[in-house]
Amino acid sequence: MSKKVLVATVKPFAKAAKKKIEKIVIEQGYEFILLEKYEHLSELLKVVEDVDALIVRSDKIGSEVLDAAKNLKIVVRAGAGYDNIDLKSATEHGVTVMNTPGQNSNAVAELALGMMVYIVRNCFNGKSGYELKGKKLGMHAYGNVGKCVAKIAMGFGMELFAFDPFIDREVIEKDGVKCVESVEELYSTCQYVSLHIPANDKTKESINYKLLSKMPEGATLVNTARKEIICEESLMKIFEERDDFKYVSDVAPDCKDKIKDKYEERSFFTPKKMGAQTAEANINAGAAAITQIINFFERGDTIFKVN
Ligand code: 3PG
Repeated sequence: MSKKVLVATVKPFAKAAKKKIEKIVIEQGYEFILLEKYEHLSELLKVVEDVDALIVRSDKIGSEVLDAAKNLKIVVRAGAGYDNIDLKSATEHGVTVMNTPGQNSNAVAELALGMMVYIVRNCFNGKSGYELKGKKLGMHAYGNVGKCVAKIAMGFGMELFAFDPFIDREVIEKDGVKCVESVEELYSTCQYVSLHIPANDKTKESINYKLLSKMPEGATLVNTARKEIICEESLMKIFEERDDFKYVSDVAPDCKDKIKDKYEERSFFTPKKMGAQTAEANINAGAAAITQIINFFERGDTIFKVN
């Protein structure tokens, strides 16, 4: 019996990406199943029943889905962050979980810079704004996205800093980025901070008042990572206390309406997470996901396994 691969995404991949995944699946002699824009978990529970492999984006994969997926051997999150997948439950169910690091990084990085330009030019409202050139930008974490942000920001003539305890200083500094000693130093040095940390038990609500209040005059926080890493109480407090503070985010906070009501000109939120919403990012991440699945089944390759 041929293996069944389900692509299940509430937020659909670009058309070209779906075509590419389907082509690779069919060439391999596997079966391709597509479920997108689903509104109820029950739809996923039904279709997942007899599949061998699952490709998702930010779709929540918890024990209910894993219980229902009796034949499932592998889930690949076509993207970087896998906080949407219950890794413990997947391991208990004997299911391998992978991500596709780096495949959508450029798209996310371009959005980060795009939002910075937008806010520093007063949301293009006609009033005089500022330039990014010569300003200090700090990457909070220097993984694939942080690295891409640095590369693009260098073209703008920004002065670059990074804090990442998991990456060697030499790796950061060879890109022309200054490696700072502590997260506090990053926030007190940089007028612009771009967030690239994952959401996990250690990082949730870690971007708090203590850090934000250290930022210099004209502070601008850029979040293309996860909303959970922000302490929203601190965010409201800093907006209230400092009329120079700006926040742009692709992952809007729960207190978004309050911020929009009171601080419209100092904030921007995308209507839904769209950092990775480009044809190129979808093609790259989708093709990597299906290739990893085939290599897993045919060669036992467990590259980018995260559980
Ligand atoms: C990621 O973790 O790869 C990004 O946040 C993109 O997520 P998305 O696939 O849900 O757009």
